[in-house]
Amino acid sequence: MNQKLCAGMRSSLVATLLLPLLLAAGSDVTGKEANRKPNFVLIMADDLGIGDIGCYGNDTIRTPNIDRLASDGVRLTQHIAAAPLCTPSRAAFMTGRYALRSGMGSTGRVQVLLFLGGSGGLPPSETTFAKRLQQQGYTTGLIGKWHLGVNCEHRGDHCHHPNQHGFSYYYGLPFTLFNDCVPGEGTDILADFQSTLRQLAAILGVGLFTLVCVRVCGLLDLRLWLLVALFSLSILATAVWYVPFKLLPTWNCIVMRNQDVVDQPMTVETLPQRLLGEAQNFIKRNSDRPFLLFFSLVHVHIPLFKNPPFAGRSRHGRYGDNVEEMDWLVGQLTETVDSLRLANNTLMYFTSDHGGHLEDADSKVGQKGGWNSIYKGGKAMGGWEGGIRVPGIFRWPGRLAAGKVVDEPTSLMDLYPTLKHLAEDTQPDRHLDGHNLMPLLEGRVKRSEHEFMFHYCGVYLNAVRWHPPGSDSVFKVHFFTPNFSPPGAGGCYKTKVCLCHGEYVTHHDPPLVYDIFHDPSESRTLTPDTEPRYAEILEQTARAVDRHKSTLPNKQVNDTQSTAVQSQMAWDKILWRPWLQPCCGTFPFCGCKEEEPRI
Ligand SMILES: *[C@@H]1O[C@H](CO)[C@@H](O)[C@H](O)[C@H]1NC(C)=O
Ligand SMILES: *[C@@H]1O[C@H](CO)[C@@H](O)[C@H](O)[C@H]1NC(C)=O
Repeated sequence: MNQKLCAGMRSSLVATLLLPLLLAAGSDVTGKEANRKPNFVLIMADDLGIGDIGCYGNDTIRTPNIDRLASDGVRLTQHIAAAPLCTPSRAAFMTGRYALRSGMGSTGRVQVLLFLGGSGGLPPSETTFAKRLQQQGYTTGLIGKWHLGVNCEHRGDHCHHPNQHGFSYYYGLPFTLFNDCVPGEGTDILADFQSTLRQLAAILGVGLFTLVCVRVCGLLDLRLWLLVALFSLSILATAVWYVPFKLLPTWNCIVMRNQDVVDQPMTVETLPQRLLGEAQNFIKRNSDRPFLLFFSLVHVHIPLFKNPPFAGRSRHGRYGDNVEEMDWLVGQLTETVDSLRLANNTLMYFTSDHGGHLEDADSKVGQKGGWNSIYKGGKAMGGWEGGIRVPGIFRWPGRLAAGKVVDEPTSLMDLYPTLKHLAEDTQPDRHLDGHNLMPLLEGRVKRSEHEFMFHYCGVYLNAVRWHPPGSDSVFKVHFFTPNFSPPGAGGCYKTKVCLCHGEYVTHHDPPLVYDIFHDPSESRTLTPDTEPRYAEILEQTARAVDRHKSTLPNKQVNDTQSTAVQSQMAWDKILWRPWLQPCCGTFPFCGCKEEEPRI
């Protein structure tokens, strides 16, 4: 055996034997805990509505584990997502900034990343809370859904990958769970575009067939080259449709472990167990050092799981079964934290990326999207409260009072500065839109620092929330609202998700004004007659918008300091490119299966 290795073994042996003695001599267990930086376990559900959870008023769905987190900790009742859709909301959550600052806000039709083989994603220049914690010596892991891009220029550059954004360990779905991942569940990705392409291919096929017949029957003296050209064209049109869309499960329904694709197309039924096992193992592996775990659930996004022992057990069909399964996962993870005696040194957080999807329902399954309680609207409906007000629960025994409820406005973007503060990160940073929540959570202050909050629909400023000092009121000013289709339906059933521009919205001048403290369902617009502060509300919010806009990168400004942000959501970034496609094996013959769940 090599000498250096022996010496190394000897000194590590000494360290193993002596260290506990030294520690025991120097400090008792609580002293050691007090000095150690806290761990963070962040749990985010997908598409869960605030009305789906027991501690937020649901009396028929059983969520005992989430309810217990709330009764052992602090429950936020006005916790707001920065966007009503996955990709922009998650970008803002990760960076502590509105999505348009990182180019993750949409200008048009496409509002979330659609293909893993696109080049858009969270830019490498952005900083996430994971990266900041990593710089403070944290071990960081992301288990579950990412949906913020993978590659920029070629397969395997992984410029947007979680490993590049501060997560030293990654296991999960770089994309998202969606209907196309399970045969027979329908299609989510550009369904109307797909059917147009299919029709086009069919028309070309029929046209070609007719021409061939005409030629064979000798009715017309058609040139052979014309036939060949037409034939190639139809093949091409079909391929354009076939390759990215027909193989969607292969391209997008995949699981990666760090930089490797390990399951393609993924086995959906075993996902919950695999993700839970990975999350539990991550905590066990790192229980003796400060860690960050972001457990990004695939529940309760469609297609809904049908896993025993949850299938058919709830009082709300398959959707309810999935909420209860999700609650069980949260309970299992909490149990892991507690059984390792980490609870007193671990801040646990539970939230959803945005509100429930009202348009998701069919006659066979019934309800498939979340329930947003008394709040108006839902997923993809701009600034309406139902799409952005989500559960927010913090548990930290010994540090946060049990059973506390905070009604002040808070944001998912607050996590970034809160974690930074707790990790004692005082290094300079970019402009942040979130605030450290600890003073509010600990009850050291009564008022939120969010006097104003801005609600975006894509890159468009949709609404502003104003919580005036010294008042309970929370005014909300909507500059435009989505057009529901059919009109009056309370949702965009034709397009399935509402859009933020052009003919899809109605602009309001003067804007629609509500006081959501007195009228949380946004059902009574205020007027100068009904609200004495009406003029002041418009004036104050207009000034706040000006101040906010001055902090945004501006293409028009001609100074060298300002760098225009490149949109990550433009068509050229979104569309599928074979050379960017993550692949297990040799492209295009991608495919592999993961061995048994590693628990
Ligand atoms: C509880 O959640 C289910 C499922 O989302 C929903 O249908 C029901 O209306 C909710 N009940 C209450 C009281 O909010
Ligand atoms: C955690 O803190 C609470 C409150 O300070 C205390 O009662 C409990 O014994 C602590 N638990 C452990 C495992 O240290």
